[in-house]
Amino acid sequence: MKYKVPFVNYPLQYKNIKKEIDATMTRVLSNGDLILRDDVTKFENSIASFLGLKYGIGVNSCTDALIFSLLAAGIKRGDEVITVSHTFLATIASIVHCGAKPVLIEVGDDYNMDADKIEAAITKKTKAILPVHFNGRACNMKKIMSLAKKYNLKIIEDAAQSLGASFNKQKAGSFGLSSCFSFYPAKILGTFGDGGMVCTNNKSFAQKIILLRDHGRATKDKIDCYGFTSRLDNLQAAILNVKFKYFSTWIKKRRELADIYNQGLSGIKEIKLPPSPKTKGLFFDVYQNYVIRAQKRDKLALYLKKKGVETIISSPIANHKQKALKDLHRFHLPKTEQMAREVISLPLYPELTNTQVKYVIQVIDEFYKTK
Ligand SMILES: Cc1ncc(COP(=O)(O)O)c(C=O)c1O
Repeated sequence: MKYKVPFVNYPLQYKNIKKEIDATMTRVLSNGDLILRDDVTKFENSIASFLGLKYGIGVNSCTDALIFSLLAAGIKRGDEVITVSHTFLATIASIVHCGAKPVLIEVGDDYNMDADKIEAAITKKTKAILPVHFNGRACNMKKIMSLAKKYNLKIIEDAAQSLGASFNKQKAGSFGLSSCFSFYPAKILGTFGDGGMVCTNNKSFAQKIILLRDHGRATKDKIDCYGFTSRLDNLQAAILNVKFKYFSTWIKKRRELADIYNQGLSGIKEIKLPPSPKTKGLFFDVYQNYVIRAQKRDKLALYLKKKGVETIISSPIANHKQKALKDLHRFHLPKTEQMAREVISLPLYPELTNTQVKYVIQVIDEFYKTK
């Protein structure tokens, strides 16, 4: 189906920077620079310095970045890691893949970990907290960091959705022992396939990640541990180096579009909006996703579809309510469950025109006036 307002528009973004991308791909392919070459190093350095950190290690996805971070932090079978259910499943899966137990807590109205729920979830087995900076908004890290200090817990940040966001002028992904990023195509900084990164200030931790991503190879001949095939492709890194030049412009545009949505939708009492980009305070949001909570959500989604607007309901069933994930059924998280029933993501990306955003607003307004 051809949408008037598609949820993402990869071809349009490519078209806008085609010349540079094509030239870069031609250079990389002509040189045969495919695995762990200079483009990867350049991109790792760019992201690390953007965050104000010393090390960035490119891997093949944020999922691997999370797994490797937990392994390098020493998380093992029997340990507990506190995180949220209201996230992409990869966050929770990474803990399970390390043999540890995810302990899921509630989120606040901003969809991020409710720090006031952490202390009650801590046990003798708790080894780490894994906050998720969701939808392009950083978690309130003040309380999370002070609890981590009090109970001697490691912080691994899932910043897959929040490169560029900040809390109290500090970048999401620069608080913990490590942070994990995704460069999946739909991310604000997305490549043409999968990609991820671990960022850290800790040299020996960075060294462990470098080993894990490449079969434990310390040098060509020396193996230090068992590892994985999980490098960020040099071609993808080269593409990301091109796109990174546009990153701050793209964030600016996203914030402008979010503001148009917020202004246009503010009069509709059946929906709850994300915080406005104009709100003064501790948060700088990058609007990776523009998520609203809507009464009659499923009917609204259908109506928007009929009118040519593509939307996404990212987790219609809360992760801890998924039938196959029986080990998570013990968690009782009514707020998260209600969010799963109400959230819907509207199209938001820099290539979207103001007219398209106004059209989406008009259709939502029409829905609540007539249905
Ligand atoms: C919050 C969160 N964590 C982890 C991931 C996993 O990222 P990847 O697809 O790069 O493995 C995603 C991907 O969308 C995500 O949104």
